[in-house]
Amino acid sequence: MADSTSTVFQDRRLVLCVGPGGVGKTTCAAALGLHAAARGRKVVVVTIDPARRLAQALGLEDSTPGEVVSVVREPDVHLDALILDGAKVFESIVRDNASTPQTAEKILSSRMYQATAQRLSGALEFAAMARVQMLVDAGQHDLIVLDTPPTANAIDFLDAPKRVRELIDNPGARLLAGTGRLGARILGLGSSVLSKTLETIGGGQFIGDLGAFLREFADVLEEFHRRGGNFEQLLRSRATGVLLVTSASTFSVREAEAFLTQLADYGLRVDAVVLNRIDKTVPEPPPREQLEASLGPEHRDQLDRIWTAYAGARALGERTRRSIEAISSSRANLQVWTASRQADPPDTLPELRELGAEIFG
Ligand SMILES: Nc1ncnc2c1ncn2[C@@H]1O[C@H](COP(=O)(O)OP(=O)(O)OP(=O)(O)O)[C@@H](O)[C@H]1O
Ligand SMILES: [Mg+2]
Repeated sequence: MADSTSTVFQDRRLVLCVGPGGVGKTTCAAALGLHAAARGRKVVVVTIDPARRLAQALGLEDSTPGEVVSVVREPDVHLDALILDGAKVFESIVRDNASTPQTAEKILSSRMYQATAQRLSGALEFAAMARVQMLVDAGQHDLIVLDTPPTANAIDFLDAPKRVRELIDNPGARLLAGTGRLGARILGLGSSVLSKTLETIGGGQFIGDLGAFLREFADVLEEFHRRGGNFEQLLRSRATGVLLVTSASTFSVREAEAFLTQLADYGLRVDAVVLNRIDKTVPEPPPREQLEASLGPEHRDQLDRIWTAYAGARALGERTRRSIEAISSSRANLQVWTASRQADPPDTLPELRELGAEIFG
């Protein structure tokens, strides 16, 4: 089997960091970006909602969302980062694809657009994909690391292009675009997303707006459609790999196993599972009687306390060992990489470099 580390660092053009909420996806994405950049790749990390100190470390804190910021630029190291801005991504798709600049303005200022663009389920995920594609098209980087939003379900993310397409293909929406008011009833039945918007805005005026909007929006929707299809292809190609980040808790490991199945069904290549914030395995202590004898009876209370704490640390270390075993045995040849729990959250560049060296080194 090819070594996964070299696969990630040599073959992939896009690496997705996916996993349950709060496990360290954004942190690992930054560490991966730094590590790959140090190995000579031109990298951009697309982050989603980074914690403040991490944003600071990446120089993103005062950046305009969506803007590509240079994080490290040394003779042989090229690392950029950006914070995903869903609204900006949608806006640029509208501007680039509306039939005229006037139509673009009309779409962007319509209540319909403002009410739906960000609220569609999967809108953020779709925006992330569209932004990645813009970076691919721009061709300035040879590795894009995509942090992903906390999804209860990996497929929520992967299905975003499909859901946007379904919305566009919704017969109600098509009919409405062609026939104005007549389609409204069908639409109400056909699309919960749009009917929710209908409730939000309220009233019949909306229906008229919607018909006009969909007619004007048709070109743009086609582009959304096309991008969704292209992105699915990119995801399934050899250019794309996945790092599944998780923690060693029994719950997260179960979740990770479910993710693995979903990712495989979807045709994605999981390069490795990163077990983050693990507790190191601790060796077995000497026999208690031996310790008691050497410390003397007057230290019995202290020994009790140390003994209990040590047993706790051993249990956590043991849990890590079992988690690694469970994940490794769930898939043949699946790599499991680990990162230890740090006393201080790794959110400066040197700390992220160190974390990267531990995981990928
Ligand atoms: N190895 C580690 N040791 C200690 N703290 C860590 C480690 N990895 C991540 N953290 C901390 O855990 C917190 C969550 O990390 P992070 O924001 O990267 O998770 P996430 O999976 O992106 O979360 P979300 O699902 O909310 O986007 C942060 O405070 C981060 O600094
Ligand atoms: Mg995150």
